Amino acid sequence: MKDGVASHTARSVAARRLTHERLPADYGDPAADLALSRDVAAGLEPAPGRMHDYIRARTAFFDRVVVTAVNDGVPQVVVGAAGYDARSLRYARPGVRWFEVDHPATQADKLERLRRLGIDARHVRFVAADFRVDAVAAALRDAGLDPREPALFLFEGIAVYLDKAVTESVLAQFREVTVPGSTLAISVSLTSAARGSTARARFTESVAAMGEPARSFLEPAEAAQLLARAGWQLDDRGQQSGRRTAAGFLTARAVPAPSIPLHP
Ligand SMILES: C[S@@+](CC[C@H](N)C(=O)[O-])C[C@H]1O[C@@H](n2cnc3c(N)ncnc32)[C@H](O)[C@@H]1O
Repeated sequence: MKDGVASHTARSVAARRLTHERLPADYGDPAADLALSRDVAAGLEPAPGRMHDYIRARTAFFDRVVVTAVNDGVPQVVVGAAGYDARSLRYARPGVRWFEVDHPATQADKLERLRRLGIDARHVRFVAADFRVDAVAAALRDAGLDPREPALFLFEGIAVYLDKAVTESVLAQFREVTVPGSTLAISVSLTSAARGSTARARFTESVAAMGEPARSFLEPAEAAQLLARAGWQLDDRGQQSGRRTAAGFLTARAVPAPSIPLHP
């Protein structure tokens, strides 16, 4: 990301999500999500195509994970690299604490928009952190995340913008502040076969032009190993459809602490 500039890729995702159907829930404030997303999307016209379809599938996957966890009573949700994702509003439920961690420039822009639009986000703790340099575990603890209680962690649309070592470090820090059994949902790169080299080259070019270059392509098989080193075990592959895994939509559980390998 360019220093001091809010993420353009995050705006673009928000604009695409506006056109996608969302999973309904009998709690939360979808109107607040819509108001923020419309504000963010002003002037952007997402083109149809592979990326649009990919974001539709990704949105459906993360919506499902969030609604399932909230329905099951998860008390805390951590949205890593939240961008303009407004699930903390759309799926707000009394008693659930939300934590949004994002690059300071994007988060400052989101906060300004929320304030200007008069959207009440008092149930959300905003944690500004640059994953490359900031201590995320300490910042989450300071913001009030209770490491003795279960949490859901989201890491959507961000791994590609980080070096793999940074992704591993952030995920290990998420593990550090939660209990065994907590869930992580992460989107990683499509398998080369699923993506195709031309599409990957086009993506690389387009995000570089937005000043947010792709730094790594973490495919599902390698992601499983990285997750294991960070203290997360991929959910039984038998339960995840092959298509979902090929598309890079993964869930994992926090493993008991003694088997977490030492992390530098
Ligand atoms: C493609 S957007 C995805 C946003 C959101 N997860 C979504 O799906 O709508 C990428 C996000 O990563 C954040 N980001 C990029 N580099 C980062 C870094 N080094 N530290 C923290 N956040 C970063 C950006 O601020 C942006 O919000």
